[in-house]
Amino acid sequence: MKFFLDTANLDEIREAAQMGVLDGITTNPFLIAKEGAKFEKRIVEICEIVQGPVSAEVTSRDAEEMCRQGHALARLNPWVVVKTPTTKEGLKAARCLIKDGIKVNSTLCFSSSQALLVAKIGASYVSPFVGRLDDVSHQGMDLVREIVTIYRNYSFKTQVLAASIRHSMHVIEAAKAGADIVTMPYKVFDQLFKHPLTEKGQDRFLEDWERVKSLVT
Ligand code: E4P
Repeated sequence: MKFFLDTANLDEIREAAQMGVLDGITTNPFLIAKEGAKFEKRIVEICEIVQGPVSAEVTSRDAEEMCRQGHALARLNPWVVVKTPTTKEGLKAARCLIKDGIKVNSTLCFSSSQALLVAKIGASYVSPFVGRLDDVSHQGMDLVREIVTIYRNYSFKTQVLAASIRHSMHVIEAAKAGADIVTMPYKVFDQLFKHPLTEKGQDRFLEDWERVKSLVT
């Protein structure tokens, strides 16, 4: 299972990259705006650190314009994956980009029927939004499970990228569901390391070691 961070913050990205567990990044206009960074410059900076797929989102409702923006984004760096919305126009734009060899991540996916269409046009990634479905009283993870089953039935190559992840249990559930990738905020990434018994156990071992040390010296 690949781990992506859902962030445009360079410190967070560097930290995860240094640990050797970072496979890629997803961004969206909100995350870039939060950093107050210049969009294209920040995407290039992220690609240089990660050396893996970096999703950058188009910002239009019109297929032609999205396709034009997607080409411009793809020219920024070979690691750029163009994020297009899972709408009719978004799929038209995705198709136009894919035929020119540009990788696409179909974002804002909320149903299996949408995911089927995404796979049929040959997108590299589909992003089911788990947390936002949970927010409206649906089991977001059921969608991930259903898409994984459908893609396996037909050996579709599109990778399932579980998105809108809110806590560490989402990461575990996505892994159990067979998602290819999970993209998470840094806060969730940090939660993955934590267990009170690990911290308590380490405190105890270090205290014991102090006692042993004083006996031998
Ligand atoms: C994924 O690519 C999106 O950027 C992201 O996961 C959205 O998550 P949110 O629902 O927390 O905004």
